Formats: sequence, structure tokens, C-alpha cells
Amino acid sequence: MQKSPEITKRVEQLRTKLQEASYAYYVLDNPIMEDAVYDQLYRKLQELETQFPDLITPDSPTQRVGDKLASQFNSLKHNIPLYSLENAFNLEELKQWQERCQNLLIKSEELAAEKETIINNLNYVCELKIDGSALALTYENGLLTRGLTRGDGITGEDITTNVRTIRSIPLRLNIDNPPAIVEVRGEAFLPLDEFARINQEREENQEQLFANPRNAAAGTLRQLDPKIVDQRKLQFFAYTVHLPTQNTLNSQWEALEKLREIGFLVNPNRQLCDSLADVYQYCQNWEIKRKNLPYLTDGVVVKINSYSLQTTLGFTQKFPRWAIALKYPAEEAPTVVEDIIVNVGRTGAVTPMAVMKPVQLAGTTVQRATLHNCDRIAELDLRIGDTVVIRKAGEIIPEVLRVLHDLRPAHSQPYKFPEYCPECNSKLVHPHGEAIIRCLNSSCPAIIKGSIVHWASRDALDIKGLGEKIVVLLRENNLVNSIADLYSLTVEQIANLERMGDKSATKLIKAIEESKKQSWSRVLYGLGIRFVGSVNAQLLTEHFDNVDELAQASVADLEAIYGIGTEIADSVEQWFKLDANQELIERLKKAGLRFSKNKTISKQNNLTGKIFVLTGTLATLKRNEAKKLIEQVGGKVSNSVSAKTNYVVVGEKAGSKLTKAQELGVKQLTESELLTMLNSDIVPTA
Ligand code: IVH
Repeated sequence: MQKSPEITKRVEQLRTKLQEASYAYYVLDNPIMEDAVYDQLYRKLQELETQFPDLITPDSPTQRVGDKLASQFNSLKHNIPLYSLENAFNLEELKQWQERCQNLLIKSEELAAEKETIINNLNYVCELKIDGSALALTYENGLLTRGLTRGDGITGEDITTNVRTIRSIPLRLNIDNPPAIVEVRGEAFLPLDEFARINQEREENQEQLFANPRNAAAGTLRQLDPKIVDQRKLQFFAYTVHLPTQNTLNSQWEALEKLREIGFLVNPNRQLCDSLADVYQYCQNWEIKRKNLPYLTDGVVVKINSYSLQTTLGFTQKFPRWAIALKYPAEEAPTVVEDIIVNVGRTGAVTPMAVMKPVQLAGTTVQRATLHNCDRIAELDLRIGDTVVIRKAGEIIPEVLRVLHDLRPAHSQPYKFPEYCPECNSKLVHPHGEAIIRCLNSSCPAIIKGSIVHWASRDALDIKGLGEKIVVLLRENNLVNSIADLYSLTVEQIANLERMGDKSATKLIKAIEESKKQSWSRVLYGLGIRFVGSVNAQLLTEHFDNVDELAQASVADLEAIYGIGTEIADSVEQWFKLDANQELIERLKKAGLRFSKNKTISKQNNLTGKIFVLTGTLATLKRNEAKKLIEQVGGKVSNSVSAKTNYVVVGEKAGSKLTKAQELGVKQLTESELLTMLNSDIVPTA
């Protein structure tokens, strides 16, 4: 095909259309295009750009994810320094700030005759203080050319390639005649569910967990591989705009409106207040309401609204005088570490925990905090007897934030990590280059217990009633030594156990029996192979019809599957090489567990043409993954619920689509029901 004016036009049209759809989706939260249509147009644009590379522009939606960086980021000077904010810790301090502003304004020569009126009728903009990482973005002639971290406020790191992957940051400003330079500031952050997903993935991959969403956001922004940044779904709320040559804005409130208009996501929970009493009310309301937000906030930022008054007030060395942050009481508390214990997980990872004097924190009594790994203990320089500050943020297990070394008791000794497994006494191993110390003994009681609990867990074989307590009881009575032993248990054996009777024993045996019907993908996930979480198990079982094929696959065969990388492939190959694991599979096969696709039945119950709608956040699958899986079995994913919808898949915080589905009586599925259905013979009637 020859490049023609029509093709150039078509590429421009596609780009604009996709930009509009993306703005509607990510900024306005009001999709105007079906995902499938977006994907098709996107692919079309990609095709044309491949044929005619000179038509690629930096603001094309196809150009969000760039190439990996070889080394570290460059430091660059900010166009305008980034100030930080003065803190107030209570309403009284907020009042003092307001009085300081009023006094300065009274003394000011610049204010006109109606000084008194202005000063007595100050307007304030209240914004939530987002607990993320500040970014400074530069747009030249409307195009995003630079994204810097805050750094020390004067220079920051050039993380432009990563910033480009954030969908709520426009690559081109929506301004007709854009000024030569526009500078936008705001906060990049990770929503809590995304933070939890990343940490869950890291746990499955046995990588060190992020301590909190802020660290996770900052760490993600400094990733050298933009592909990883792209997967992590960072978001961005804009709060400052500098339009040096075209400044028609008179106030912060107008600036926030303008930011939204030119393409940014602005936090919707802002409020224009015309008295300090209203500011108080806002702060008090949000101290409670913030707990229901899908991201972390650590206070409220109060800003004098009028730009001319802001100019009169100016800046100190560090802060603008016209703004202040009211910080909510930190969910941090001091306590004393009485002991350090280690916990051996199902994968053999040995995690140290601090046992502390009980302390009240964010409404609960806390006695244990994770220390993550031995490097962290060394980094903190923590000893038993030390006074520490612990913190709890969001849903996260408390962690030791820092040690108050001045309060260290005399004669305390540096902590020595155990050399032997506290559960089985075998020598612990510290693999080269890893932060995690492990017990490698596959018959270690902690590993066996953990693997049985995992096998029975909701996303694996989902054996109701087989939680940690029962597993411990079964182990204490020498009834199970491996997951395969579960399938030879009898009602009598269980009924004889402490606190169990005939009824609960029958129920448990029935649940164990039922687990034989679970799909091959759940079985594979249940085996607990390193890096094989439920999504990877799904990918592998889609590709291999049965376990024998999978066991014989080479690393190259495995890597050829979309989504399966070298680490996963290696881990799968290693696992199947071990005789003990082969024996386990033979025993489970004999017991009647499914290790293959049930082709004949699944063909009869084809899902071709069935329409699915996804709503809310699914526990393990990302939206595009769920979509891909549905489409692979011939189903379709639609954006909106209608009478034609066959199933609505409901995740956490499901919204109006669920209400609509309920009204229309559309069949609802949980994520695990969806996974079972996609991979099994059971198709619930819609
Ligand atoms: S205004 C000169 N507004 O808080 C004005 N900052 O503790 C400076 N932050 O570095 C910032 N949400 O990263 C502003 N709505 C908001 C904010 C906000 C979060 C962060 C920002 C700043 C830090 C100061």
C-alpha cells in the first residue's frame, strides 16, 4: 500500500478517536466505546503505523509503553521548584495558619481599599492529600515531553518513559493552541486493590513485598522496564497547573477545572469553602470517609483559593504560605520488641516477625509485626528489647517502621537469624542474591502443613471446612503427611478427633470428595509450584491437555506460551523432575483428581456467543486477562449490561452494572465460578 493523504488522515482520525475514548474511560470514568471496539481500532492504528512508521507521533496511544532503560535515570533540574507543605496536626493549628495569613494580608500594601472585606471573606479550596509520589510534568507545544520525580524539589529524576504508561496522564493536552510550555503537578499513586494484587503476585513469586502503596508507587516509577510499570496500573491526580504565557486563571478552583478540561484526572472530592468552619467540617468528614476510598490519603490540603492573594502571601524557604496540610493522626505507635520469631511458609520461606508489647493502632490491638526478611532486620539494626515505631496502613499487616536506637537497653545483643529450621531442624539456606532465607526440606512439617492449607484454599481445590486448624489437628494425629493422604481419610478417623463429631466429619469427607470434580487448572494451582499462581495455571492448562504433556514440556515449549516467562518455565520443569512430585501426581490421579481437560463434555457445553459483563475488581485476574480467557472459549465481553447479557462476573466494589444485572435477573458469577466454568464441564444455566 502506498502512503496517501487518505491514510495520513485515517491515522490521525484513529489516534484522535482512541484518545477521546481513553479520556472518557480513565478521566471521566464514563466509557464511550466498547473494549472490543477500542482494541480493534488500536490494532488498526498499529498496523498502519507499522506500514508507515513516519506517521507515528509521540502522542499516539500505541506509544505509551517504551523500551527498557539500560542503566539508571538522569537527574534534571525542575523548571519551577517543587515546594513542600507546612503541616498542621489539629484544627487549632489550622486556625493559627488562617490568622497568620490574615495578618500578612492586612500588612500588605498590595491589597486595594476593600482589604477588610477580602480578609474576612477568604475562600479556601480543600483537597484530599493523596499518599503517593509527586510528579512534575512538562508539556511542550501540547505534547508531554518530560516527567520528573520530586527529588529534592530542585532536581528530580527523569522518569518520562514510565510516566507515559499512566493512562490518566494525557500524552497531548486537550488545548487548541497550546502554549509553548505547560507544567502540571500532581500525585501518582497505586489504588489499594492494585497494591494488594501486586503484593499477592510478589508473594506467589516469592519476591519481597512492598511495605505500603506509597513505596510501591515510588518503586514502580523507578522501574527500568516500562512494561512492568504499565502492568502496575498507576494513577495520577493533578492539582497544580502553570500556564505561563496563557494564564487566564484566577484561582485554584479554576485551575482544577482547567486541569480536568485539558485532559487530567482531578480528585472529585474537592470542595470550595467560604469559611474556616466549612474547612473544619470537610476535614472532619473526610477523617472517617477516607477509610472507604480505594486509595490512601494522609490528610487534607487547604489552599487559599485566590491566585492574587496567593501571590501576595508568597513562599517561605520551603513552603507556600497560602497552603497547609492538615495531617490525620498517624497510624503509627511506639512499642517494645519482646521477641523475634520466624515463621516457615508453605514454600519454605522463613519470615521473621517481631513479637511486641501489645499496642493500640488504628483501632486494633497489635502484637506482631512483619520484619519481611533478614536484610530488613540488619537495615533497621533491630535487637530484642528495642523500642520501635510500628505502622499500619490500609489493609496491610503492621510493620516495623524504625528503631528508636537512643532507647536501646544496655547489654542488648545483635539479632542472629536462626541457622536451623525451627520446625524440622534442617539447615536453612540463603540463596545467592535473594533476600529470603529458606528451608529446603520438602518433608518439613511447616511446608507440609502450608501446602495442604493451600491445596484446600478457595482458589485452589476449595475444600470447605479444611482450614489451618483442622490441618494442624490432622497432622498432630498423624493422619495426613501429604495432600494425597486427604483422599484416604475416613469419617471414623475424623469423628474421633477432638472437637469433631460424626456430622462435621461427614461434611468434611464430602467436601474432600467434591474436590475431585474441580478443574485441572485448579488442581495445578493447588500443587503450589513456585510462580504458578491461578492465572499461570490457567494459561498452562489451556495449552496442555493433560499433566503428562505438561510434565514432558521443555523450558522452550513452556516459554513459547504467551505470558509464561523463563522463571516460570524453569520452575515448572524443575518441579516435574523431582521423583517425589511424580509420585504425588500418581497418587492424586489414583484418588480421582482431574489432571486433564474434559474435552467431550466441554464441547457439548460450548460458551460460544455467550455475553459476559465484568464489574468490580476481580481477586486474581486483571480485566484484560479475564476478557482473554472468556474470548478463548468463544464468549464475548461487553461493557454494559442489557437483556442480552448472559453472565455478569462480579468482583469487589461492583458498581451500577451489578444493580442493572440484578434488575434484569442476569446470572451472577464470582471469579472462581468463572474460572471453573471456563475450564470445566459445568455451565450454570443463564
Ligand atoms: S499541593 C506548593 N495538593 O503532599 C504546593 N500536594 O507534603 C505543593 N500532595 O509534595 C503541593 N496531595 O506530593 C498538594 N492535593 C494536593 C496533594 C499534595 C498530595 C503531596 C505532594 C507534596 C506533599 C507535601
